[in-house]
Amino acid sequence: MSPLRLLVFLGSTRDGRLGENVAKSVVNSLKQRNHDVELIDPLTLGSNGHVSQPLHFYKDQSQAPEWMIKTNAKIQAANGLIIVTPEYNCMLPPGLTSMMDQFPPASYRYKPCGIVCYSMGPFGGLRAAAVSPLPE
Ligand SMILES: Cc1cc2nc3c(=O)[nH]c(=O)nc-3n(C[C@H](O)[C@H](O)[C@H](O)COP(=O)(O)O)c2cc1C
Repeated sequence: MSPLRLLVFLGSTRDGRLGENVAKSVVNSLKQRNHDVELIDPLTLGSNGHVSQPLHFYKDQSQAPEWMIKTNAKIQAANGLIIVTPEYNCMLPPGLTSMMDQFPPASYRYKPCGIVCYSMGPFGGLRAAAVSPLPE
């Protein structure tokens, strides 16, 4: 199989987050299969974990921060997306949605997508996976 360009979105910003280990394990496993993988981490992305203005809300997108424009280009260029998400209060964690909401839905659209979920609870994050922000 030829290498794929894949992005792994890490959905937790919590101090001491377990998601970092989960996401790194996913990244390593994909790299071992020779895929070109990049971790998208809300803590280092540039938004500091908050949506202040999504890219598609800029009147002139060239005025958006450079990290936003570059990350959007990576999403558009990706062959597939992997979402790594914990479950917070039976739902998606805010770190995941505030990261992914920065970018236009069209950038994600029609891409194959995998969801890796985890939690301390008996369902292993299943309820978050069920509502994860998959492209249409
Ligand atoms: C705010 C909050 C809400 C949580 N709600 C749930 C929940 O509804 N179900 C569950 O199984 N675990 C829940 N947990 C436990 C998390 O699944 C567990 O702490 C997990 O490690 C969180 O991922 P993180 O360490 O990467 O942030 C919750 C944790 C937090 C911090």
